Amino acid sequence: MAIQLIINGKPQSVDVPPNMPLLWVLRDTLGMVGTKFGCGMALCGACTVHIEGVASRSCITPISAVAGKKVTTIEGLSPDRNHPVQRAWIEMDVPQCGYCQSGQIMSAAALIAKSVRPSDSEIDDAMKGNICRCGTYQRIRQAVHRAAELHNAMVTPSSTEGPEEALDLETVEVGGAA
Ligand code: FES
Ligand code: FES
Repeated sequence: MAIQLIINGKPQSVDVPPNMPLLWVLRDTLGMVGTKFGCGMALCGACTVHIEGVASRSCITPISAVAGKKVTTIEGLSPDRNHPVQRAWIEMDVPQCGYCQSGQIMSAAALIAKSVRPSDSEIDDAMKGNICRCGTYQRIRQAVHRAAELHNAMVTPSSTEGPEEALDLETVEVGGAA
């Protein structure tokens, strides 16, 4: 039976087994390969997406669990790579091999959407489930601080929306290599 959900602002209907992981649906059924497969056991964070704005591991999330829900992937984070986390990542030249980085960015984006000025310990806590084999952790922490600054500059005092909600979430291809 087809399962309906909203991916990057667009309604999607997928006819797959209900226990198929969301990551499989994204990559293999929908061809959205910006979200990466690392461990398949919620241990590395490479597969991180937002489910209703919460950073979540798509490798252990059955597609049936997101029926009717809003999912945001790296491809939908912004229409033009202008999300403050993407801007900070580019400015700080964070990635090395890049494989973990879409997951890192999604975790960081969820953090700054709810924390205006995250401390080092808040950042470390929010990012601890995202493993980087290249050891880019120092730059990640600096970039999250920078992303929070950029986020605060983008949000007007009268606005209560985070940048993810304020942007038009058209699906665009901004993910890394497959
Ligand atoms: S692939 Fe999902 S946490 Fe590693
Ligand atoms: S940049 Fe290579 S694994 Fe993180």
